[in-house]
Amino acid sequence: MSKFIIQGGSKLMGEIRIGGAKNAVLPILAATVMNSAENILFDCPNLKDVDTMISILRAIGCKVKFEDNVLTVDSSTLSSHIIPEHLVREMRSSIFLMGPMLARCGKVKISYPGGCEIGPRPIDLHIKALKELGVKIVESHGFLECEVANLNGCEIQLDYPSVGATENTMLAAVMAKGTTKIRNAAKEPEIVDLQYFLNGMGAKIHGAGTSEIVIEGRKTLKNTQHKIIPDRIVAGTILVAGAITQGTITLTNVIVDHIRPVISKLKESGCFVLENEHRIKLIAPERLKSIDVIKTLPYPGFPTDMQAQFMALMTIAKGTSMITETIFENRYKHVDELARMGAKVKIDGRVAVVRGVKNLTGANVCSKDLRGGAALVLAGLVAKGQTVVDDIWHIERGYDRFDNMLQQIGSDIRRID
Ligand code: UD1
Repeated sequence: MSKFIIQGGSKLMGEIRIGGAKNAVLPILAATVMNSAENILFDCPNLKDVDTMISILRAIGCKVKFEDNVLTVDSSTLSSHIIPEHLVREMRSSIFLMGPMLARCGKVKISYPGGCEIGPRPIDLHIKALKELGVKIVESHGFLECEVANLNGCEIQLDYPSVGATENTMLAAVMAKGTTKIRNAAKEPEIVDLQYFLNGMGAKIHGAGTSEIVIEGRKTLKNTQHKIIPDRIVAGTILVAGAITQGTITLTNVIVDHIRPVISKLKESGCFVLENEHRIKLIAPERLKSIDVIKTLPYPGFPTDMQAQFMALMTIAKGTSMITETIFENRYKHVDELARMGAKVKIDGRVAVVRGVKNLTGANVCSKDLRGGAALVLAGLVAKGQTVVDDIWHIERGYDRFDNMLQQIGSDIRRID
C-alpha cells in the first residue's frame, strides 16, 4: 500500500498549472463510443479513474492511446456491449456508458455499481430517464440488461438535479428520434463541457449550465477534438493548501467563475484573493478566521467535493465553524482521522461543528475516500511534525501526482510504496 509522508510546517509559495477535470473527462470518454470514429482529447489528467475508463473502452473493443495527457479513442472497432463487472465495481462512473452504448448499439449489459465509500449512491434517476426514452431495462442478479429498438426524444423531469443522471440522459438523447428536454437538470460546469464535446461531434444540444437542456436528436456523428476544462476541485484543493499553510499561491489554467463558491469562502476565512479570468492568486492571513456557514449544494452552491478540505482548513481557524453536508449521507469519514491530529469536530447527522485549535499534530491517518484523503494531506501540511497518510489510492483516483504538485510549491511530502 502506498503512503504519503508529510513534514508539516512549510509555507507554500509558487505557481501551479491546473490540469483537466476528472469529472469532465469521464463522461466525455464514455461519449467517445458513440461516433464510431477517432476522437482526440487534450489535457486529460493521468488518474486511476481515467485508467479504469480506458480499460473498459479497450475491453469493449475500442483502440485507446494515452500519451502526455493526450488521449485518442478510436471507437470504430467497438465489438461488445458487455461492460466487465470487475471494472464497473472499481468505478461508479462506468454507468456513464449506459447512455452512449444504447445510442450506438441499442443495448448494454452492465452490473450495478453498488454502494461506495461516501454513502449509498442509487442510480434510480438514471434508470427512470432511460426508460422514458424508451429503453427496456431488466434488473436481475446484480446486472442491468438494457435494450432499445429506437430511442425516442421526450420531456424528462428529473426529481433531483443529479449530475450523473443529467449526463447519462444527455448522452442517450443525442441520437434519439426527435427532441429531448431535460428539466431540473444539474448545472455543473462539467455538463457544459460535455455539451461542447458532443456538439463538436455534431450533436445539437443547448442549455447546459441552466436547469433546462434541449437535445435535438441526430442520425450520425463525426470525429472530434476537445480540450478538457480545468479541474475546479483540484484548483480549490490547492488554494486551501495555500491558505492552511499561510502561503501565497498562484494558479494558472483555471476558470475563475467555476471556483467562485470556494473563493467566496476563502475570503470569509480572511484570505486575500486576486483573480482574472484564468489566473488566481491567494495570499493567506497569519491566522484564519472561522466560517459561520458552509453548506454543500448543487452548483453554483458550495461543492460537496470541497467539504472535507474546508473542514481541514477550519480545524485551525480562530473560532467555530458549522458545515452542513446536504448532498451525500456519509461524507464525514475524515472526521475521526482529523481528530487523531488534534482537530475538534462534532457531528450531528448532516451537521459538523468545527472548533478551531491553534495547532494540529502529525499522526498516522488513513484515507477513507478521495476528497477526505486530500483533506488529511492538507492537515498534514500544517501539523507539527510528521503525518503519514495511508491508503492513498483513494486520493490518486482524483489527483494527478498530488505529491509532485505540492512539492512544486514547497511542501515536504514523499510518496512511498
Ligand atoms: C458527481 C461527481 C461527484 C460529485 C457529485 C455531486 C462525477 C464523476 N462525480 O457524482 O464528484 O460529488 O456529482 O456534485 O461527476 N442520486 C439518487 N439517484 C440517482 C442519482 C443520484 O438518489 O439516480 C442522489 C445521490 O445519492 C446523491 C445526489 O443524488 O445524494 C447527488 O448525486 P449526483 O449529482 O448524481 O452525483 P454523481 O453524478 O454520482
